[in-house]
Amino acid sequence: EKGTYPHYMLKEMDEQPGVVRKIIQEYSNEAGELTIDDQILEAIKAADRLYIIAAGTSYHAGLVGKQYFEKLAGIPVEVHISSEFGYNMPLLSEKPLFIFITQSGETADSRQVLVKVKELNYPALTITNVPGSTLSREADYTLLLHAGPEIAVASTKAYVAQVAVLAIAAYVTGKSLGKGVVLDLKQELAIVANGIQTIVDSKDELEQIAEDYLKIARNAFFIGRNLDFCVSVEGALKLKEISYIQAEGFAGGELKHGTIALIEEGTPVFALATQEQVALNIRGNVKEVVARGANACIISMEGLNEEGDRLVIPKVHTLLTPLVAVVPLQLISYYAALHRRCDVDKPRNLAKSVTVE
Ligand code: F6R
Repeated sequence: EKGTYPHYMLKEMDEQPGVVRKIIQEYSNEAGELTIDDQILEAIKAADRLYIIAAGTSYHAGLVGKQYFEKLAGIPVEVHISSEFGYNMPLLSEKPLFIFITQSGETADSRQVLVKVKELNYPALTITNVPGSTLSREADYTLLLHAGPEIAVASTKAYVAQVAVLAIAAYVTGKSLGKGVVLDLKQELAIVANGIQTIVDSKDELEQIAEDYLKIARNAFFIGRNLDFCVSVEGALKLKEISYIQAEGFAGGELKHGTIALIEEGTPVFALATQEQVALNIRGNVKEVVARGANACIISMEGLNEEGDRLVIPKVHTLLTPLVAVVPLQLISYYAALHRRCDVDKPRNLAKSVTVE
């Protein structure tokens, strides 16, 4: 039930701090340490390469998950769009583990890959919000998102849950493999939950940003580098699916290779600057677009912020920024859609679970 909320999407965005806390709790053992099921841990450790398969927002979560498994556990990862993988399988490694990320557990494009994977006798793990869903039943293993039902067509809390569960799985694997993982993920995720709370409590500011940048926009760009790039593509998808504003997310460094030709007077460009390593580079990209008339909205993070940044998100561990940085983009999209009187919870042409290929 959406209770006093005007839309499920708003309610579900507000639930995100609680979802992260719930995941910490569900994935903690009696000693209070983060853990995943032993069999799943062994299956991940036995793999020489992970193949993440997903669609839409879940694919975007997979892009972040790749970095977690590679950086925390030292396992190479490929991320594939299910509808592409299904009809054009790449050469596989000797001991692959397939990881299906799917909120609903019913997406036909992802399922057809799972069917092929099982025919080939490879192990499969499904990360889903729905226990007993088709992709959960048909895979060897399941990790649950514990996000509670997601009703709005636009996925918000499931993305945050997917990224959090991927972080935990990669972290636990890295520790078990003795990879010298130094961060205290449990504590860092608690900080993330508080950071998300701060953002969802800044709705007036985010509504104002939507008004200032998107009121009359026909198109919009989202740029970032490294993990911010992964969030940029998700931000663009949120905006286009609910507000119908043409949006594109891409890597800051790619601007000069073509897209910058589209920048005109007033074109909105949302730039994420949460990654210290590339902070200067992305700020350089912002200068390039501003010089061509763009209306740039810099979203940075405490500690990396500069004067003129439109929004500064609370400081979190550098690997975990997607969990927080995605939230303002969700809320900006929500308000842009409201201002255009779009049907936020049920955008045109879309269904919550896509059960056709
Ligand atoms: C976007 C959105 C879709 C889904 C995609 C996959 O907000 O909801 O892009 O992410 O259809 O759905 P699941 O995760 O259920 O497999």
